[in-house]
Amino acid sequence: MKIRVVTHNKHKYDEYKLLFKNESVETEWINIEYVEIQDNDIENIALYSLNILKDIVKEPYIMEDSGLFIKSLNGFPGPYSSYVNKTIGNEGILKLMEDKINRDSEFIAIIGLRINGENYLFKGITEGIISLKISGNNGFGYDPIFIPKGQNKTFAEMEIEEKNMHSHRMKAFKNLIQFLKENDFL
Ligand code: IMP
Repeated sequence: MKIRVVTHNKHKYDEYKLLFKNESVETEWINIEYVEIQDNDIENIALYSLNILKDIVKEPYIMEDSGLFIKSLNGFPGPYSSYVNKTIGNEGILKLMEDKINRDSEFIAIIGLRINGENYLFKGITEGIISLKISGNNGFGYDPIFIPKGQNKTFAEMEIEEKNMHSHRMKAFKNLIQFLKENDFL
């Protein structure tokens, strides 16, 4: 089976490529940028994107919508993670967190799958904390300021293999694989 992975983000694709490789599933990177709606719910965003893509990309394909939800900022940046990362960035987030004692946060990933003309969503959540400073050069986005629970380094200080052991993406992926196996697609 071959699954098309639709994302404009090479880092995301590399993470998926390795996850699928471990399940002996071939992948093809569909590097396109598509219009994303603004919504407070990332599951709605994923469903909308899945439907837009059905006229553009051959099935089966997956896409993902994800975000960082910081407890003491009432879930900000959440669905606006991409925009906030491009504008105020990690320095801006650390500034907003300067006086915050509670640094709990979670990354959420929603994988959208289109197969046999149907849409399916799979969710993955990884809890962690926002670090006190920017550390590490790997990965993308908020990786240099996110330390997953039980670990003592940021995602950006990990190689892909290690990030894939803890990430929200891996957890959503596990649910996707379980679905594919249970429905005899794999
Ligand atoms: P999306 O591409 O619309 O899903 O935007 C999600 C945004 O959340 C990205 O642009 C990143 O800023 C952030 N994000 C999602 N997943 C990760 C991750 O694994 N590491 C770091 N940042 C992430």
